[in-house]
Amino acid sequence: MARVQVVYESIWGNTEAIARAIGEGIAVRLGNDAVTIEEASPQVTLDPDIELLVVGGPTHAFGMSKAATRRSAQTAARPSTRSPSRRPRRRSSALSTELAACVPQ
Ligand SMILES: Cc1cc2nc3c(=O)[nH]c(=O)nc-3n(C[C@H](O)[C@H](O)[C@H](O)COP(=O)(O)O)c2cc1C
Repeated sequence: MARVQVVYESIWGNTEAIARAIGEGIAVRLGNDAVTIEEASPQVTLDPDIELLVVGGPTHAFGMSKAATRRSAQTAARPSTRSPSRRPRRRSSALSTELAACVPQ
């Protein structure tokens, strides 16, 4: 039974990548069976026995996403069409290892 539940909203994929890195990092310590990672939807139910709930979503218009900002995000061009960032991308496995170091056993 999952002890940790990660629930995210992500339209362009950035929050999903972070949510997965957090969940995978925790799973390094607690095991895959202890962690569920799910996209937020009306079908998501919270396990009554969970010990940690991680919830994440994109910043939209200086706050949480709303119906109107979700529509804007869905119709706007995804930023991946821009030129790549000059900052080197970090491998998610390295990030997972660092996150795992923060999780008590
Ligand atoms: C409609 C809209 C409004 C946004 N408003 C903000 C904002 O106020 N501040 C900010 O830092 N980023 C803002 N962003 C950028 C998103 O927070 C950012 O691209 C985020 O990584 C998107 O998450 P996602 O890839 O999980 O959908 C906005 C993006 C959209 C589409």
